[in-house]
Amino acid sequence: MPWSKERLEEVARARLGGSKLIVVANREPFIHVYDGEEIRWMKPASGLTTALDPVMQACSGVWVAHGSGDADREVSDERGRVGVPPENPTYTLRRVWLSKQEQQGYYYGFANEGLWPLCHIAYTRPRFDARDWDQYYRVNRKFADAVLDEVDDEPAVVFVQDYHFALLPRMLRDARPDLVILHFWHIPWPNREVFRVCPYQNEILDGLLGNDLLSFHIQYHCNNFLETVDRALESKVDMEEFSVTRGGKTTLVQAQPISIDPDLWSQPSVEEMKREERRIRKRLHLRDQLLLLGVDRVDYTKGIPERFRAVDRLLELHPELRAKFSFIQVGAPSRVYIPNYRHLNEELHALVEEINWRHGDDSWRPIIFLNEHHRPEQVHPLYRMATACVVSSVHDGMNLVAKEFVAARGDLRGTLVLSRFTGAAQDLTDALLINPFAVDEFAEALRLALEMPEEEQERRMRRMRQQVMDNNIYRWAGMLLSHAGKLLEARHAGVGDKSNGVASDKLGSLSLAEASS
Ligand code: F6P
Repeated sequence: MPWSKERLEEVARARLGGSKLIVVANREPFIHVYDGEEIRWMKPASGLTTALDPVMQACSGVWVAHGSGDADREVSDERGRVGVPPENPTYTLRRVWLSKQEQQGYYYGFANEGLWPLCHIAYTRPRFDARDWDQYYRVNRKFADAVLDEVDDEPAVVFVQDYHFALLPRMLRDARPDLVILHFWHIPWPNREVFRVCPYQNEILDGLLGNDLLSFHIQYHCNNFLETVDRALESKVDMEEFSVTRGGKTTLVQAQPISIDPDLWSQPSVEEMKREERRIRKRLHLRDQLLLLGVDRVDYTKGIPERFRAVDRLLELHPELRAKFSFIQVGAPSRVYIPNYRHLNEELHALVEEINWRHGDDSWRPIIFLNEHHRPEQVHPLYRMATACVVSSVHDGMNLVAKEFVAARGDLRGTLVLSRFTGAAQDLTDALLINPFAVDEFAEALRLALEMPEEEQERRMRRMRQQVMDNNIYRWAGMLLSHAGKLLEARHAGVGDKSNGVASDKLGSLSLAEASS
């Protein structure tokens, strides 16, 4: 039976019983902002929140996140709680308020100038500052308090997201040994030689070993994590069972690639799409050129300069393609208080200007850089219009843009040009796989995409769509929640013993697939 919202609802009901489900993620799924006197809400540019919101809609529960919108307090109660989605609430968003100093140290500093470059092979040097670490610790503690407040005295499953909360699982485990704690690390885990430069590696690893289950997108990152622990900490690392046992407690480490809800990208009517396409072409002064498309946060891991250079090279090698296509780059500003991100933004504008000057003229721009946040409804028609979507990350845990593009192409047209260095490249093998650093190879892939015969587009797209439909976000969540359910049962069976050791040891060798059966 295929995984759907309804099936996930059933699994959540059956597996979690009466236990609460609490998701912790730094980014909130809905942000309230002032628009003059009015308050409106928006969705952030985040694959994580787009993927998890439908899961929460299916399972209910509480999502604990940083309240980052300037009108967030206005619409939340005194505990920071508000029902979401705003138009038809099905779950609770619990907002945690952070001071500027906390945001600076925890989010911009330790998480995004330390762990982010450390975990991605993007050749950006990580920066570790003791004051940032201090704030990272304090904010993890603040989130732990909010989670414990939500849990109250009840049994609960806490599902932690990402590198913002490496210390949280240990804090929760110490306070409530009976909680079932899962953690999904959405970015890569580097090899142990890379990770050991982090001055706080032992604290981070110890924090993560507070989890019952720690999950990554791909097996390679699980292996890197296990090897890092093996080298750094006194513990028993089992490379066959993929687990770590420390102080009698076991953490399972398993791969579970994240995905999307394909239905969110299913086809609006053909007329509606055509109307939208005409509107976009008029607005961007496009005639009938073919479109190449990139959709990203402006981040140095996404390989956007490499992409522009490939367009440059393509036009150098194939001047006959001049005015035959335009490259539209949607680039949502991101983490703008970090100097590297600001510099990247400037570099991109300069590159676009240079390339457009070299190859373009008054009536044609090779690259159109839309340097602003676009809502999913605005991105959708672009996916549908594109001859190819280009995802050229120099390193990426998964990359959900690749899967969204495939889900949007119910017409079985369009080609995905995809970096080998994304987790998505393991799932979407019918994409044109590229090395973004190899400029000639990249330019050639763009040419192939522009000229690919329709039958071949269709053959590749059909297979990729099947992959995304079969392995959707509901399956991802279903596997993880089923595992949580087994842990809850085992906790229950270890009557009187609330230490995670008893329960986790019994489940130490249980794979995610077995847990979901
Ligand atoms: O991929 C890592 C990640 O943190 C995701 O979880 C999220 O989709 C994206 O980066 C957005 O980052 P931020 O929340 O910092 O804007």
